[in-house]
Amino acid sequence: MPNTSAPVLHVHSDLEQLSRACAARWVALCDRAIAERQAFHVALAGGSTPRRLYTLLAEEEFSGRTDWSRVHVYFGDERSVPPDHPDSNYRMAREQLLDHVPIPAEQIHPILAAPESIEQDAASYAKVIRCNAPLGPEGIPHFDLMLLGIGPDGHTASLFPDTDILEQRTLLVAPVYVERMKTWRVSMTYPVLDRARCLLFQVAGAEKAQIIARVFGPPTDQAPLPVQRIHPEGAVEWHIDRAAAAQVQP
Ligand code: 6PG
Repeated sequence: MPNTSAPVLHVHSDLEQLSRACAARWVALCDRAIAERQAFHVALAGGSTPRRLYTLLAEEEFSGRTDWSRVHVYFGDERSVPPDHPDSNYRMAREQLLDHVPIPAEQIHPILAAPESIEQDAASYAKVIRCNAPLGPEGIPHFDLMLLGIGPDGHTASLFPDTDILEQRTLLVAPVYVERMKTWRVSMTYPVLDRARCLLFQVAGAEKAQIIARVFGPPTDQAPLPVQRIHPEGAVEWHIDRAAAAQVQP
């Protein structure tokens, strides 16, 4: 599936409008996936930016336009905390969305990640995505949609700068120790991100303006950011708010 389209940049007035636009994209991509492949396999992003999107998706305006019986939810990454921990990406998605929509429980696939079993946990999740998500000819899942964010350092999912996971081209899911945070994480790796049919980035806030300017700025001799090391075979959409777009040259 060669990528023939350049990333598309959508600038929205604020997080609310950004979230509403992404909710509409979810409905459209979900409808298309179900029409073409009878299911919608989506990997959720963590962090704080997608919270409003998840809340909107649970509201009738958007929930009523999603065939939840055909939706299969995964997570692009997870922190090494229990699933009920305040920092858990799964807990945030469950509280804002998954507890409020009629998605079959067996179609929700959280990452269970604990520091003491982080290697096994990553290996287990690789099996989960292989056994549940549609595979391409290489045996790698092709998600219909992967939601992603970006950190001020250019990380996405848990693909952080200066970590070994950036060189991981064999494992589909891997553990990564983030020195700056003194914590382990589990993340899908580039082979999976590269093959998503659609990568949709949500970025909001002035604190992201500098990194967005770098991502969309002219090529430099700096080492590529983790987010720039994705080689997408599918579509890429960036949905950012005006504050995050403030330093992007027209
Ligand atoms: C996580 C995410 C991470 C996130 C970025 C942006 O687990 O935190 O996977 O990649 O998307 O750090 O986070 P914010 O949306 O909170 O700025």
